Order: sequence, then C-alpha cells, then structure tokens
Amino acid sequence: MGETKHTPRVFSGIQPSGNLTLGNYLGAVKRFVEMQNSGIETIYCMVDLHAITVWQDPETLRHNTRELAAAYIACGLDPAKSILFNQSQVSAHAELGWVFSCVARLGWMNRMTQFKDKAGKNAEKTSLGLYAYPSLMAADILAYHATHVPVGEDQKQHVELTRDIANKFNHDFKVDFFPEPEPIIDGAATRVMSLRDGTKKMSKSDPSDLSRINMTDDTDTIAKKIRKAKTDPEPLPDNLDDLAGRPEARNLINIYAALDGKTPEQVMACVAGQQFGQFKPALADLAVAHLAPITEEMTRLMADVTEIDRVLGKGADRAAAIAEPILAQTYDIVGMVRSR
Ligand code: TYM
Repeated sequence: MGETKHTPRVFSGIQPSGNLTLGNYLGAVKRFVEMQNSGIETIYCMVDLHAITVWQDPETLRHNTRELAAAYIACGLDPAKSILFNQSQVSAHAELGWVFSCVARLGWMNRMTQFKDKAGKNAEKTSLGLYAYPSLMAADILAYHATHVPVGEDQKQHVELTRDIANKFNHDFKVDFFPEPEPIIDGAATRVMSLRDGTKKMSKSDPSDLSRINMTDDTDTIAKKIRKAKTDPEPLPDNLDDLAGRPEARNLINIYAALDGKTPEQVMACVAGQQFGQFKPALADLAVAHLAPITEEMTRLMADVTEIDRVLGKGADRAAAIAEPILAQTYDIVGMVRSR
C-alpha cells in the first residue's frame, strides 16, 4: 500500500441489490477479509442508499440487506474486527454526499462509464440519484477519511472521482482535510466475466442466471453452471500469452486461480494440455469446496435476523462515532452555523 500521511483505514461497500455473485466474492468480499486480517482498521458497508437509485421492492431490499450482512460474516468478516453496518443508519453519508454534489462538476459526472452503461439510451428516464451516485460513493469513503478502497476493476473510475472531489474540496477551501484514497485492485479476479460471454462482466443484473454463480446457489447448480459455461474446443496451453483471444478460457483460469489462492501462471503450469471436459469438473469441485460452507453459514445466520440487525445497529454506532465529527468539521470548513 502506498504512503499517505493519514492513518491507514479501509472502507468499501456492496449494494444489497440481491444475487451476490462470485464476482462480488472474488473481486471484493474475499479481499475485504484479507485486509481485515492484515490488522488494518476496516469498515465495510451494505450501501442501501445506493441500491435505491433503481427501483427496489421495500421488503426485498430489507431481505437483501440482511442477506448481504450474512454473506459478509459467513465469508469471514468479523463484527469484532471490522465495522459492519448498513449505510442508511449513518446519516453522515447522505449529508456529506450533498456537500460533494456541490463540489463535483457536471463534466466529471458525464464521464462516468457506469452511468452511461446503466442508463443506456434511456438516460432521461433514469433517476437523478443514479447520476449523482458517485458523489455519494465519495462521501461513503471520505466520511471516514479512508485511505484504501478495495474494489473490483469496474469501480476504479468512481474511486478516482473520489480523489478528484477530495482534491477540489481541499483546494477550494484551502485546507488539507480529506485524504486522496487509493483504489486497491489486485489478485487474479479483479474482473470476473460472465460464464456465457467472456467479454461481459459477471453481473447481478444479467438476465441470464447461467451467466453467473450466485452465493446462494446450491452445489448442483454451481456444478451445472460451470459445466454449461461457454468455452472453445482447444486444449489449455501452458502459458497465459496463448490464451489471448480466448476470453472464456482466460476467465475460468482466473476464477480457478483466485479460488485456489494462486496466480494464473501457476494454474496454467498445472493444467496445460487439459481439455475443458477435464478442467471444468476440477473447477466445479474447487468452487463448491469454497462456496458450500459459506452458503450453509449464510442460511444459518439468516434464521436469526434479530441478531443480524443487532450487529448492524452496533456497527452503525461505531461508524457514526467516526463519521459525525468528520461531517461536523466539514460543515465548519464550508461555513455552516452550528449552534446546538
Ligand atoms: P457493486 O455492489 O456493484 O459491487 C460490489 C463490489 O464487487 C465488485 N465486483 C466485481 N469484481 C470482480 N468481478 C466482477 N464481475 C464484479 N462485479 C462486482 C465491485 O467492483 C465492487 O467492489 N458503487 C459500488 C458500491 C459502493 C462502494 C462505495 C464501493 C458504494 N460506495 C464506497 C467502495 C467504496 C458498487 O455499486 O459495487
């Protein structure tokens, strides 16, 4: 991790919009756990305010928020080590988000590729929230003066925008208040691709369920999805260069490597010459060995939502204790009268 004069602190979040995927696990949660266990202070959020930028059924949103909390814990996040909470319980996020909406420029927002992808041709009909979302994300991170943000590749641009917002705020108000956080994007699976199309990202919102592995899929479903994953007729080569132009094969190698804690090069050395008929069952076994205990633990935790809510409430208290003074100082810097 790079040098910064602020105390190292990690913040990251995931939207509770259902269907937590293998992409979220390998690109985010698994790495959240590694950072937690490295001893650095870690804060992980279920970003429910982000989720409502597109329509969410209220009961389903509540369920998905608790299920994401269960997934965090089942994957190894420990509420005694990390602060775990849902975003809407700490109002500093929304308040700082407004301040940052007044710092960020329209031109910056117009460059956000995720908005363009999600809005498509229908931009006029999308919510204002979907457009403003990156300034709320900047607030999530900067409300804690977080310095490091573990994310998948697709969130890099939003973390860079966060740096721009921090920088402009500091410059406009002639302060050195907000850190410029660093995106931490590493490992073999920073961009897990669809199992049906190796050029598209694996996504919760893909209409085809066969395109992704969900954290709630059972053993048979995981095995079936890997068996049906799109591949090509060539055997696996012994080096990565020879996988150029074979995105589906490359994706399965990356997934194998990330699950097994190896580099893709190490995996290639072991599987060289194999046909997919041989490689896919090995990958399915590996995926099931990792995911089945997590799914089982999620189910166990979901049987007691009162306990999940208690954990989130406690996490929110701890999060608010950090974010509220930072918000108060921000208001002072900006020139708001605070008289109570
Ligand atoms: P979200 O909910 O879309 O995704 C959560 C995390 O999972 C990563 N991810 C992937 N990684 C690898 N391969 C994939 N196919 C894949 N799909 C998703 C994402 O990169 C992300 O790290 N805006 C964020 C949530 C957010 C946030 C924040 C993150 C809100 N505030 C503050 C960090 C800091 C989002 O929508 O992620």
